[in-house]
Amino acid sequence: MPDAPREERSRSREALRPLRVLLHVTGDDAAHWREALAGALPEAQVLLWPERADDVDYLVLWRPPAELFATAPRARAIFNLGAGVDAILRVPTLPRDIPVVRLEDAGMAAQMADYVTLAVLAAYREQQVYAEQQRAGKWERRPFRDKRAFGVGLLGLGVLGQAVAAALIAREFPVYGWSRVRKALPGVTTFAGAGELESFLHEAQVLVCLLPSTPDTRGIIDARLLAQLPRGAHLVNIARGDLVVDADLVAALDRGQLASATLDVFHEEPLPPAHPFWRHSRVTLTPHSSAVTLIDESVAQIAAKIRRVEQGLPVSGIVDRARGY
Ligand code: NDP
Ligand code: OXD
Repeated sequence: MPDAPREERSRSREALRPLRVLLHVTGDDAAHWREALAGALPEAQVLLWPERADDVDYLVLWRPPAELFATAPRARAIFNLGAGVDAILRVPTLPRDIPVVRLEDAGMAAQMADYVTLAVLAAYREQQVYAEQQRAGKWERRPFRDKRAFGVGLLGLGVLGQAVAAALIAREFPVYGWSRVRKALPGVTTFAGAGELESFLHEAQVLVCLLPSTPDTRGIIDARLLAQLPRGAHLVNIARGDLVVDADLVAALDRGQLASATLDVFHEEPLPPAHPFWRHSRVTLTPHSSAVTLIDESVAQIAAKIRRVEQGLPVSGIVDRARGY
């Protein structure tokens, strides 16, 4: 284009080069992530940190090091390889002027629904009591319990909370849900805001936590909240460990205020060997595995969003930094 003005020529050159995406993942499957992202976005060159280029367009990241952002000054959006953004929002160098986009479902909702259904059925059918009886050589039937009186309370009615609600409704459990802004969801009795939390808790024979970790929610599951549950209730935490005050939870289990806790997430991961949760008879724990991040589903979602951004179209899942999720 010999006649085009200089600025326009350089814009055209820019448009002709492939998109550049910088990927940072933790764990052993980095090469697999890169291959999958390159396959889902063939128009892009995918760099795997610590590879770098000063003209990176998009960042696809899980738990990035602070120094990464300075290497990508022209990035136009950050895609977080997880539904929860608490870790990335804590990185002090995170650019303030470009959107952070989180994963929405991407195959995690069905996994969460299975995990919670298993825990709720185990609580309802008193599996833990039967296991204790078996160890004691005791043959004794527990009285029948009416499912209609066995309410499940969901803290958080977002993408994952709503999928869990649907799975529990299909199993005919009464479902109660609590969110920041009131929701109208078929089959769910909904509550909203701090003022309605206590009424919501009174209904929950099983309390399932699917809240994001934000300044408003950290430490929310404390002695006061646990005391508002029916005696002998069960807790399932699959959101983030820092939502729970661990000492208060152990005390509630020891006192019998809680019959069990099923925990997938912890303040420190891996859970330190000396932590009391490891050996508590009323705790079942899993290693942050209630919903694993699926590579193909995640890169397909991110590739589709990158294409929308490139076309100037809106994308969902943009994090509201003031709210923290
Ligand atoms: P969403 O953002 O879709 O939903 C969050 C829900 O929490 C919303 O209903 C929101 O209310 C509610 N909420 C947030 N703050 C408050 C508050 N202060 N008071 C009341 N309600 C509040 O998130 P997802 O469903 O996609 O994910 C939830 C969390 O699950 C993630 O943040 C992550 O931490 C965790 N997670 C854990 C995984 C694991 O492997 N263990 C895997 C994936 C996610 P409102 O609807 O009114 O905005
Ligand atoms: C997530 C997680 O937030 O894996 O997606 O915990």
